[in-house]
Amino acid sequence: MPISFEVLDKDIAGRIGRLKAGAKTVKTPLLLPVVNPHLQPVSPSEMKDLGAEGIITNAYIFSRSSEFRERALSEGLHRLLGFDGMIMTDSGSFQLSVYGDVSISNRETLEFQQAIGSDIWVPLDIPTPPDADRTRVEEELAVTMSRLREAVGLFGPDAPLAGPVQGGMYDDLREAAGREAGGLGYVFCPIGAVVPLMESYRYPELVRVVMAAKRGIPVSSCVHLFGAGHPAMFALAVAMGCDVFDSAAYALYAKDRRYLTPSGSRRVDEMAHLPCPCPVCRGHTAEELRESPELERLLSLHNLAVSLAEISSIRQAISDGILWELVDDRCRSHPRLLQAYRDLLAGSGELEPQDRVVKRRFFYRGAESGRRTEVLAYQQRIGRLETGGRVLVAMDGRVREGYDSVLFFKPPFGPYPPELRETFPIGQSEIPDWEESMVVQGCEGIRRLSAANPGSLFTIFCAPEWAGIVARELPSFEVCCDQP
Ligand code: GUN
Ligand code: ZN
Repeated sequence: MPISFEVLDKDIAGRIGRLKAGAKTVKTPLLLPVVNPHLQPVSPSEMKDLGAEGIITNAYIFSRSSEFRERALSEGLHRLLGFDGMIMTDSGSFQLSVYGDVSISNRETLEFQQAIGSDIWVPLDIPTPPDADRTRVEEELAVTMSRLREAVGLFGPDAPLAGPVQGGMYDDLREAAGREAGGLGYVFCPIGAVVPLMESYRYPELVRVVMAAKRGIPVSSCVHLFGAGHPAMFALAVAMGCDVFDSAAYALYAKDRRYLTPSGSRRVDEMAHLPCPCPVCRGHTAEELRESPELERLLSLHNLAVSLAEISSIRQAISDGILWELVDDRCRSHPRLLQAYRDLLAGSGELEPQDRVVKRRFFYRGAESGRRTEVLAYQQRIGRLETGGRVLVAMDGRVREGYDSVLFFKPPFGPYPPELRETFPIGQSEIPDWEESMVVQGCEGIRRLSAANPGSLFTIFCAPEWAGIVARELPSFEVCCDQP
């Protein structure tokens, strides 16, 4: 397929990548604003000025429009929309999920998308809703997969085809669908039918679905989260390895008088101030914005600016290796997002092999940080140390005589030998005063080190205030403290 994807940098399972489709090249993570030719508050060229490198529009709407069909066919989408960046087209699948039926075949929609000069074409997949039972999910997935096979058969391996991954709420089906799409040669895989989850804040289930699909999709493929447009969840999705988003949210929220921020949305009617550096917010007071006859358009512009800026923040966080810290920020904006973040951390063993080994820094920001991939990675690597016969873990930082090896202790990581004092993560981590959860997590490091050195006898010295917790966490260890 002449869609190609190259990973340039990464953090957690998130990537900065270069996506090429035909003659167009864009950077990921990428947000494709949704363009509806019939009701468009912001023009595609204004989107370009705001920094949008690509857009997505619905081929089905063009194919059924008396106003636009012939023009799209004769002029091509890029001229018609006045946008020379990447244009992805969706098939009629979304209409299929809303209205139950569409009067177009897989072949017809793909031929139409080709004819109007779309850069990325989507087959007519079936977005099975989350409440569907297994029989229905299997049946509909079989149809979707046969259409992906048909698409490759009709247009060959060089067509810029996207391979949607369906499978409802069944992890094994999502994984199998992702693997099969990869096997068919799809290097651009949208994860589908997640809009109902996001609309009802079912973020923990979204994490499950994305992680399941990602298990099957080759790591080298570009992953699009279909219909994900709220900037508060971009960072979380990128951490799981999603590369592309599409947003109708900027316009839908604007229609509903809602003001997006990277940490949630607000009713513009309840705002006294506009906390954003975009031209709309700097050029209007909250009251002027509310009362403007152009409110919907102005809010759309702001919402889009905020969403695109969030993508830039994520790219920068990946470059800096601090994506976990951005995820931690963003996921505190809603309890269900926080739950999803915690669920992702609970399964961070799956992300750890994809994470980078060395980062610039690690800021501890509470119990969640103790579950980060960097902690897991450290505690897995610590087992490689050979500790000899008698081992001192000086949690109180005081060296004593008579041991074959002396280790210090930095929670949440655990024990470290003096020679690792300056290396990542020990040397580059900033932690506040110790608290129970980070010490508990650090004890796991001692447990791992000891398990890897069954012949070693460990003695732990700690300050009296930690002795109870350490003794409880490590009941088979000798835990001592100097009396004051
Ligand atoms: N837009 C939002 N979700 C979907 C989906 O599952 N499939 C397609 N084709 N478009 C979508
Ligand atoms: Zn603004």
